[in-house]
Amino acid sequence: MNSFDMNDWSRRQLLAVEQALTAWVPADAPAGLGEAMRYAVLDGGKRLRPLLVLASLEACGAQAVSAWMSEAGMRAACAIELIHAYSLVHDDMPCMDNDVLRRGKPTVHVKYGQAGALLAGDALQTLAFELLTPDHSDIPAPVQARLCNLLARGAGHAGMAGGQAIDLASVGEQLSLQQLRQMHRCKTGALLETSVQMGAVAAQADAKAMQALLSYGQALGVAFQVVDDILDVTADTAVLGKTAGKDADNNKPTYVSLLGLDGAKKEAAALAQQAQQALADSGLVQTQALQALADWVLQRQH
Ligand code: IPE
Ligand code: IPE
Ligand code: MG
Ligand code: MG
Ligand code: MG
Repeated sequence: MNSFDMNDWSRRQLLAVEQALTAWVPADAPAGLGEAMRYAVLDGGKRLRPLLVLASLEACGAQAVSAWMSEAGMRAACAIELIHAYSLVHDDMPCMDNDVLRRGKPTVHVKYGQAGALLAGDALQTLAFELLTPDHSDIPAPVQARLCNLLARGAGHAGMAGGQAIDLASVGEQLSLQQLRQMHRCKTGALLETSVQMGAVAAQADAKAMQALLSYGQALGVAFQVVDDILDVTADTAVLGKTAGKDADNNKPTYVSLLGLDGAKKEAAALAQQAQQALADSGLVQTQALQALADWVLQRQH
């Protein structure tokens, strides 16, 4: 049996993602826009969403299959990271969470002003869709269209943006567990679900694999935000690279405020276990990277 080395796997993928993002996010956009975009995307971030795209592609067997699938996977990996980076830029603005530190650096609006941050987010969002629809490419047009559709849905009113609206409307509110889960599923889970789905579409996976990966992504996506809620309480600002303790300061309902620290940890563990079970039931063979990412989501320290 092949032994799988997650450190080696992620080192290789992260290097490729970093190179692609560095090449694709333009430095020469006018009037300082390019500088703000690159500031928001490069030199930081755990790159979980790109890793999920690439792990899902691999789980569906694409590596061995064709060059256009690999290209589609890398484009999808970078596109979703651009959407994520834009969501962070806007999330940190004074009209939302009002944060001054992100990825260990001053937030984009602190460095480039509020209009600069708004526009950097706008331009990152649209660049994501440009990446998915290259001028000269062997990626079949229906695959390009499906990737755009998935990303638009995950980022939009029924996904991340919708979840952020719920988040802001819930300040100071006591939510039920079901409402909180729905908020987390939208604001954060949607982009993680979308990541694994995009990997599967790039690999032209069948319906059974898509369904299994969707179940994995749904459970993992909520687990990731539950752990984010936990780390906001338990981790240090220096380790997080963003200001700890902001959820309580901003009066946000979180898994910790609703269930307590132990209850939130149990919920995260149960969700990660559900994600692992979805993989075990999937019939997919090369799931080691997806398994390792689910372990990492539960154990991460930042
Ligand atoms: C932070 O996401 C925002 C959430 C959705 C919880 P990450 O923890 O993935 O942030 P980066 O990309 O590593 O900075
Ligand atoms: C962010 O949730 C979700 C996004 C869509 C950006 P948080 O507001 O909890 O993320 P952090 O803690 O600022 O990274
Ligand atoms: Mg927020
Ligand atoms: Mg925030
Ligand atoms: Mg948070």
